[in-house]
Amino acid sequence: MSDTEIPVRVRQMRYEADTVLSVGFETLDGSPLPRAEPGAHVDVILSDDLRRSYSLTQALDGTTPGCTVAVHRNPASRGGSAFVHEGLRVGDRLRLSRPKNHFPLNEAAAQSVLIAGGIGITPMLAMIRRLAEAGRPWHLHYAARKRSAAAFLAELDACVAASGGQGRVTTHFDDEANGALIDIAGIIAAAGPEVHFYCCGPEPMLAAYEAAARGVPKDRVHAEYFSAREEASREGGFDVVLNRSGKTLHVEPGKTILDVLIANRVSVPFACTEGTCGTCETRVIEGRPDHRDVILTDEERANGDTIMVCCSGSKSARLVLDL
Ligand code: FES
Repeated sequence: MSDTEIPVRVRQMRYEADTVLSVGFETLDGSPLPRAEPGAHVDVILSDDLRRSYSLTQALDGTTPGCTVAVHRNPASRGGSAFVHEGLRVGDRLRLSRPKNHFPLNEAAAQSVLIAGGIGITPMLAMIRRLAEAGRPWHLHYAARKRSAAAFLAELDACVAASGGQGRVTTHFDDEANGALIDIAGIIAAAGPEVHFYCCGPEPMLAAYEAAARGVPKDRVHAEYFSAREEASREGGFDVVLNRSGKTLHVEPGKTILDVLIANRVSVPFACTEGTCGTCETRVIEGRPDHRDVILTDEERANGDTIMVCCSGSKSARLVLDL
């Protein structure tokens, strides 16, 4: 076990919607979990070779031993959600990573408009809880295929009630709208100036959001992805130099850097393997990464001093990594 991993037990599991389970964890010794801001996630280490990232339903202030995530039973599960829904039980012990946040909330925004689809509601719930506490204005648009598939409706009502008139939830259920999807372009067009936008949901929703927000300054457009937008780099044909050991590994065509690291028993944490969670982020000492993740900003990509080794490759013949 890495010394950054936190041993926990499952304290509670509850159905929040047709295919959504919330899972509450608590530390084994009652010690507090590290702080986590709204939008943060943790990696849940389900077994030695099964690690998945899930958003927290609530920010953590560094004093509480418990936290909660929500897990949608994905029919195309590669193991994570199937394990949680079918194998995990209250009382089971496992490990969590320290919280990470690639989807931070700008609490100073004049107005926040949040658009959630399906399980994408989880980080949004943490955000509106914080906005409600802080008395900041917000409007959440929450879309699901049908009402029974929408998680946390009671919690959302509680946030509205706690917001003193500053918070609003608009739901959209496809089956109640004759199959019509939520009108993201209309939501963005109707929002006032200086609004910060947030979106988390399935890929078609995020694509519609990106297209609709094209004219909005980038620093006001925030999104979290569950799946990759680009194919992982498997072009290969470059060397990876491990700076700490001085070893050089060749990345053959058809392989990712992570494939080569694992094959050579180089220890690197990873979870999603598709550039969405940030677990495998590694410092670049020299070389030009070919970024394929959905986490780094344009500026971070241009700086080139960090890389997600699960999906990104190299534009230079040699990439020196802090490994
Ligand atoms: S393992 Fe998730 S970004 Fe690489």
